[in-house]
Amino acid sequence: MKKSDSFYGYSLILAFFMLFLAARSQLITDFYKTSCPNLMAIVRREVQNAIKIEMRMAASLLRLHFHDCFVNGCDASILLDVSDGEKFAGPNLNSVRGFDVVDNIKTSVESACPDVVSCADIVAIAARDSVLLSGGPTWKVLLGRRDALVANQSGANTGLPSPFDNLGNITLKFANVGLNLKDVVSLSGGHTIGLSRCLLFSNRLFNFTGTGTPDSTLDTIMLSDLQKICPVNGDANKTTFLDRNSNDLFDNNYFQNLLNGKGLLSSDQILFSSDEAKTTTQSLVQSYSTNSDLFFADFANSMIKMGSISPLTGSSGQIRKNCRVVNS
Ligand code: HEM
Ligand SMILES: *[C@@H]1O[C@H](CO)[C@@H](O)[C@H](O)[C@H]1NC(C)=O
Ligand SMILES: *[C@@H]1O[C@H](CO)[C@@H](O)[C@H](O)[C@H]1NC(C)=O
Ligand SMILES: *[C@@H]1O[C@H](CO)[C@@H](O)[C@H](O)[C@H]1NC(C)=O
Ligand SMILES: *[C@@H]1O[C@H](CO)[C@@H](O)[C@H](O)[C@H]1NC(C)=O
Repeated sequence: MKKSDSFYGYSLILAFFMLFLAARSQLITDFYKTSCPNLMAIVRREVQNAIKIEMRMAASLLRLHFHDCFVNGCDASILLDVSDGEKFAGPNLNSVRGFDVVDNIKTSVESACPDVVSCADIVAIAARDSVLLSGGPTWKVLLGRRDALVANQSGANTGLPSPFDNLGNITLKFANVGLNLKDVVSLSGGHTIGLSRCLLFSNRLFNFTGTGTPDSTLDTIMLSDLQKICPVNGDANKTTFLDRNSNDLFDNNYFQNLLNGKGLLSSDQILFSSDEAKTTTQSLVQSYSTNSDLFFADFANSMIKMGSISPLTGSSGQIRKNCRVVNS
């Protein structure tokens, strides 16, 4: 055998090995079909119970999955109770919610199928169920994620989009985890449910970027409403609806709001009103505002993409027994 033949032989073996690795690292919908056949029903029931107590929990569980996936991938790293944890990073502290609900789901799942189902997969299923139970689309959740051994606080501080970012910054943060402009717009539609605190948009209300006047892209009636809810030196923790028309309902009103200057966060309104939007996101906002089916279909697709960011699979990571701590 010539040297070049053996080179090609090894290359072929290497290629097959890499294909095998790629296939193995792929998430699949049937991952727990035999190991935990009732998983879907258990999570659905627990999410239903949680939102019966507090409807906002649907929004909180959706956001929890987003904030998990953007930092080191969808690996439940956000759930870890460590002092340098992600839950204490700026975008998460006193902001991200739902940890107790995830604990309850995990307890029920563990009693049915111990040591089998990851916390990362539970969060992904809970996010899907939250959207569906709020009137939104559904999709088949890909499964087989494993749980991280570490959290990444600095990753959370730098990787998560801020409501004060411009569209270029937001687009870049999405691109850094493999998501495109369409994902930016469709996933921002998640703000069709849930609340935001005053401190995250009050900069728009009185003296926007040092102009001495409010953000001119904000509808004037909504502006005077918000000025009452969030007065200067008022309670920065006070909350109001991200989608004022239909706060608890997952629908495309969020996009209609943007056409009417009624986006709550600057990062919402710039998808339609900024100069950058004219050549990037504006037309898609317009399409979603008139075509709810298109929004639902794109949102579901983008959620599957977001849910597939850098999962730990195979023998990486672990199946945590308690979602808050790494197994001893
Ligand atoms: C595009 C960049 C994004 C920015 C700048 C952003 C920013 C924010 C901010 C500032 C809040 C309020 C937090 C607080 O009051 O403490 C919020 C809430 C929320 N976000 Fe986003 N977000 C973005 C994308 C997303 C995505 C991709 C999703 C999910 C698909 C999402 C889902 C939510 C939900 C559901 C809430 C309400 C949570 C609750 O009421 O507990 N957001 N977001
Ligand atoms: C934390 O996240 C940053 C930014 O994504 C990344 O460069 C770094 O490797 C991560 N660190 C750990 C320990 O995962
Ligand atoms: C955010 O945008 C500003 C202004 O365009 C720019 O100076 C800054 O570097 C951007 N930051 C990131 C992280 O892209
Ligand atoms: C608005 O903010 C700028 C910069 O912080 C400041 O110089 C200006 O005096 C403020 N204007 C008003 C009306 O408060
Ligand atoms: C907002 O709430 C957090 C948590 O309860 C608290 O630590 C913080 O001091 C509050 N901030 C303001 C401005 O009231």
